[in-house]
Amino acid sequence: MKAIICDSYGGPEVLELADDIPVPQPGPNGVLVRVHASSVNPVDWKLRLGLLAPLWDLRFPVIWGCDFSGVIENTGSAATLFKVGDEVYGFKHGKVAKTYRGTYAEYAVVPENTLAYKPAKLSHEEAAAIPLAALTAWQAMVNLGKLKAGSKVLVHAGAGGVGVMAIQIAKAMGAYVAATASTANQGLLRELGADLVIDYANEKIEDKISGYDLVLDGLGKSVWPSSFKALRSGGRLVTLTLPLPQQPAGKLKFFGTIMSNVVAYWLNGMVRRKWLWAVQVEPRGGELEKITELVDAGKLRPVIEKVYPLEQIAEAHRQSEKGHVKGKLVVRIIG
Ligand SMILES: NC(=O)c1ccc[n+]([C@@H]2O[C@H](COP(=O)([O-])OP(=O)(O)OC[C@H]3O[C@@H](n4cnc5c(N)ncnc54)[C@H](OP(=O)(O)O)[C@@H]3O)[C@@H](O)[C@H]2O)c1
Repeated sequence: MKAIICDSYGGPEVLELADDIPVPQPGPNGVLVRVHASSVNPVDWKLRLGLLAPLWDLRFPVIWGCDFSGVIENTGSAATLFKVGDEVYGFKHGKVAKTYRGTYAEYAVVPENTLAYKPAKLSHEEAAAIPLAALTAWQAMVNLGKLKAGSKVLVHAGAGGVGVMAIQIAKAMGAYVAATASTANQGLLRELGADLVIDYANEKIEDKISGYDLVLDGLGKSVWPSSFKALRSGGRLVTLTLPLPQQPAGKLKFFGTIMSNVVAYWLNGMVRRKWLWAVQVEPRGGELEKITELVDAGKLRPVIEKVYPLEQIAEAHRQSEKGHVKGKLVVRIIG
């Protein structure tokens, strides 16, 4: 099969197209998916650069990529939830033992309990823009952030992959939503339903809002001081991005950087009762079905900046690394 393989950590140039990779076979509870489209998430290039290497001791070559939308080609001996020919979408944790087999490939094997049926009204390219970002927003806001109808939530990086999903999910749940973006993206955030849009280049969070129940942080520690000021007592800041070394580092520096940056906030939280949480998204079919229901009900749609053919994946990574993608960059694998 065709796939993008990497023989080492490094820049976008390590992403190489190969056409002789064996098609993987599903285990008992797995399914083999013919991948029609994938999309780029920042974790793909963070992995590629080796920034998360201290967590895992991987053997190369690897195939990066998490999101997918496609068609079931084969099912494992004990898999019962889907059948051959079903159109499904989801995201894959590519790590299995010391290998990493992601979705920048024509075929991927995934556990069946991480899938959902592709929303019928979306193409594969549209569907592939949703799973990891939407599940992150769901798990951060609903599971960790205790979001409910009437909650007031601030979504940082509202124009990004997670942000566009978070605004729509929070609105669908009946929350009051403030979100941040550059001047150019203010209109997009309003179209998605944000009640209050904050232009981060010209306005200060603490001048605009206070007494909030929840902050979803997709930017990192630089926005924590102003975000904590915006929270009510008992409120939660759920971050997607704990502070990490910006260059590949050993385990000691990796975990030392995280701890030295968060301890003060945890202690401060105990005094002020404003809590710092961190999310690590997990692929869960049941929650993805709830996302599908929102799509079907017209309450959630993907925002796609550009579709790249698989052969141009390096260009898509370069664009994502600039940090200003509007919604998602999709990768076309078939078609
Ligand atoms: N922990 C987890 O499980 C998990 C899961 C998913 C993502 N993440 C992490 O969460 C972060 C966000 O992910 P993503 O997919 O949403 O990233 P993304 O799509 O690359 O985010 C890009 C967006 O960030 C916005 N942005 C940049 N600087 C900003 C600022 N100072 N203030 C407000 N917005 C700003 C940009 O909007 P403008 O162009 O308007 O500036 C752009 O639309 C990444 O670091 C990712 O790795 C973690």
